[in-house]
Amino acid sequence: SRTVTRNDDGAAEVGGLDVRDLAAEFGTPAYILDEADFRARCRAWRAAFGQGADVFYAGKAFLSRAVVRWLTEEGLNLDVCSGTELAVALDAGMPAERIALHGNNKSTAEIERAVTAGVGRIVLDSFQEIARVAAVAAEHGVRQRVQIRVTVGVEAHTHEFIATAHEDQKFGLSLADGQAAEAVRRVLMLDSLELAGIHSHIGSQIFDMAGFEVAARRVVSLLGEIRDEHGVELPEIDLGGGLGIAYTTDDDPREPHEIAKALGEIVARECDAARLTPPRLSVEPGRAIVGPTAFTLYEVGTVKPLEGLRTYVSVDGGMSDNIRTALYDAEYSVSLVSRASDAEPMLVRVVGKHCESGDIVVKDAFLPADTAPGDLLAVPATGAYCRSMASNYNHALRPPVVAVADGRARVIVRRETEEDLLRLDVG
Ligand code: LLP
Repeated sequence: SRTVTRNDDGAAEVGGLDVRDLAAEFGTPAYILDEADFRARCRAWRAAFGQGADVFYAGKAFLSRAVVRWLTEEGLNLDVCSGTELAVALDAGMPAERIALHGNNKSTAEIERAVTAGVGRIVLDSFQEIARVAAVAAEHGVRQRVQIRVTVGVEAHTHEFIATAHEDQKFGLSLADGQAAEAVRRVLMLDSLELAGIHSHIGSQIFDMAGFEVAARRVVSLLGEIRDEHGVELPEIDLGGGLGIAYTTDDDPREPHEIAKALGEIVARECDAARLTPPRLSVEPGRAIVGPTAFTLYEVGTVKPLEGLRTYVSVDGGMSDNIRTALYDAEYSVSLVSRASDAEPMLVRVVGKHCESGDIVVKDAFLPADTAPGDLLAVPATGAYCRSMASNYNHALRPPVVAVADGRARVIVRRETEEDLLRLDVG
């Protein structure tokens, strides 16, 4: 988080609070989230895209009632991808018309819930789903606003993009093989569906704008084809999320205003060329909003030097609170935050307490050579896809999310208890 500083004792402070006090009050491991930073990022996205566009926060990155309230207050919309994410959003008071429902295999129950709640948009992902949503909407006498998710045939990577004829993955309807155009035909024939626009999401943790630009061009060109074939100009396009953040100092993220400018210009230029009225643009950042706002606070349990290799530093969490290192080979940094140290740096691997050697939190890092049991470590940029992908492996109790604001800390998601777990076990 931007607001982490060191006090006179050499301990880290976030939002004016000493991490040692946070650990004492809330225990470790814990996700410490800076509410001011979260709100500032929401405002930056809103300001960058302006009144002519919408910003849908991708709830899969991290969702809770408090987050939904912050989003609602800051003027963001919300992308949910399950009935339960939808339930959290509605429960916390997000107006349904500001919610978009995603997913490649939404159940009829989820569709029903979304349609009856009055969500602003359902993003259609398959031919079966077109029929399913149409049937549910008809049954409830609703004309449901929908977008069609298309696969634009670009694969976005961290520092490159590779154009591919077909994307060999489960999401969307392909532009290249005509499935997207066929989906448009079918939706336009159904009275219970209102085709609002076309959706594209090219991937995640992307730094290079080129993939977004290709996607924008191809989506606008589809709008031109739809106008030519059907005589209708669709009013919306959504270019998804995926903007990368800095996990380590090697990463150089784009700012929201850069992506807004690049996308805005491309869409304007392509629409001009195709003589289309520019559609309303929306985007769906998740990681870029919540990722940098939180760090995980751990306590060191053991320190094991391996001669000639490295030192293994075990913390009181691990792959159950951050699966990203094991799953994606993701890179993180780590620092000693409970005190200052003048000791030499030593090469470490920060590992968890799970019964698995792949249980790595930070693969390669340096910590002071005097790092010892009882020290507190912080792993930054864990706000996205860490609590939301946390598990109970080894019956770990999922850590709390503690929001810090105005010099005060409060739990927004509490730590799981042994009781919580035992209650599920009814055998
Ligand atoms: N919109 C759609 C349709 C998506 O599928 C996603 C992410 C987003 C928006 C938000 O993407 P973001 O801005 O957060 O990159 N668990 C992985 C990331 C999977 C993301 C899936 N979809 C991770 O930990 O990196």
